[in-house]
Formats: sequence, C-alpha cells, structure tokens
Amino acid sequence: MHTALEGVSFDACAGTFLSVVGPSGCGKSTLLHIAAGLLQPTRGSVFVFGQRLDGVNHRASYMFQQDALLPWKNVRENVALGLTFRGRSAAESNQLAAEWIRRVGLDGFGDSYPAQLSGGMRKRVAMAQSWIVDPDIVLMDEPFAALDVHTRLRMENEILDLWAGSGKTVLFITHDLEEAIGLSDEVAVLSVGPGSRIIARHKVDLARPRNLLDIRTESRFQELYKTIWSGLRQEVLRSYERD
Ligand SMILES: Nc1ncnc2c1ncn2[C@@H]1O[C@H](COP(=O)(O)OP(=O)(O)O)[C@@H](O)[C@H]1O
Ligand SMILES: [Mg+2]
Repeated sequence: MHTALEGVSFDACAGTFLSVVGPSGCGKSTLLHIAAGLLQPTRGSVFVFGQRLDGVNHRASYMFQQDALLPWKNVRENVALGLTFRGRSAAESNQLAAEWIRRVGLDGFGDSYPAQLSGGMRKRVAMAQSWIVDPDIVLMDEPFAALDVHTRLRMENEILDLWAGSGKTVLFITHDLEEAIGLSDEVAVLSVGPGSRIIARHKVDLARPRNLLDIRTESRFQELYKTIWSGLRQEVLRSYERD
C-alpha cells in the first residue's frame, strides 16, 4: 500500500482563497479528493463548516485538471449539468446557464460542442459549470496547468474576478508557486511523499484587487516567492532524488 498523505492537519478559513503547492506526486490531488469526499481517508476525518464529512461534500464543487466536459453535450448543456442533477427545472437551468455563459465570456457559443472549442474556452465552460451551482467551497486541482502561459494568466485573473466578493472558500491545488502566490490569501506547502504532510503555511499580504499581469514584478511578491520557494525547493529536490 502507498501512503500518500500522513499526519496532515489542515484547515481553510471560510471565504479565503487558499492554495496548496507541492512537488508532483506528493498527494495534492489525494488531498483534494478527500476534501471533496470522493476518497475516504484511511485515518482521520474531514469537517466542513463544523460538520463531519460523510460521503460526498455537497457544499463543494470541483474543477479537475483534465477536461471533464461531456463531449456529446453542448456548452449550454454542460454548463447546466449541475443544476439538472439537482433537479432544477429546464427553464430555470437554461436561464442560469445563459447568464453564466455570458459571465465567463462565451456568449454565442452555447450551441457549440467541447471539441469545437479551444483549451481556454473549455476551461471557461468548466468554470461556469462549477460556479453555477453556487457552492460554498470551490475545489480546483491544477485547473490551468494545460494552458499556454498567456491564456493561463487570463484565466487566473478571471477566477479572481469571479471569486472577489463571492464569500466562497477556494482550495486551489497547483505545483506552480507563482500561480499560488498571485491568487491566494495563503499558501500551504506539502512535503514530498510518501507520507506527505503540510510543512509550512504562508500568508500572502498582497493588496486586492490584484492584476496578475503585473504582480510578479512587485518587490513584495518576489520576497514572498523567495521565502516560500526556499522550503518548497528542498521538497522538489528530494522528489528528484526519490525518482
Ligand atoms: N488510486 C491510487 N492507488 C495507489 N496509489 C495512488 C493512487 N492515486 C494516487 N496514488 C499515488 O499517491 C501519490 C500521490 O498522488 P497524487 O495525489 O495524485 O499526487 P499529486 O496530485 O501531488 O501529483 C502518488 O505517488 C501516486 O502514485
Ligand atoms: Mg495531481
């Protein structure tokens, strides 16, 4: 048996944007699956707004690393999927889907199918899909890892626009420390596995709203980057040795 995580004790403050970084294979996706209730921890438990999680976390929605759109459904149907599952009427679902399609900048693409869209556009659909159900918690697992760097910056800015003032708690998984700092209120660092645990948590005191196009050149950003990287770097080096 492989022990991905061990002795992880971890909390997210409601309404904040929290990122978890760590070397590849350390257990980031495992942690998120546990938070989503898709995976039962061998030991220990998860509490969601004070209640012990038993089964799927219905307060949360989930955005995967891979494209999780249904290829045989068009954009409107994909966006409305979560509402359909929750038994909302077709009229209500359609209206909300149209609203969200507009919000994520896909006006005019409601009838298109995933295969007809670019990678960035598919991410927009996935974003609308996870936010339309108005979850209290949004779980994201390296959602932009497959995008080119400019599209990625743009999507990161858009996630911040969606989140700002929403009151939602975001748990964002990434291996990219710059992305984590740019987006978050706090960055947690996972050690290399097996038996990975949280080895540091850093508050990110950069002002909001943030413009991610420029933030990397700010001296405070670079300071934070150096501090957090000095810990993460060791884990990344250890992950090279392990492999
Ligand atoms: N279903 C599984 N069965 C056995 N090992 C797994 C399973 N899923 C993940 N692992 C292992 O657990 C470790 C952590 O995986 P994962 O959480 O996907 O890491 P990350 O997302 O940080 O890259 C890896 O070593 C992986 O090989
Ligand atoms: Mg992963």
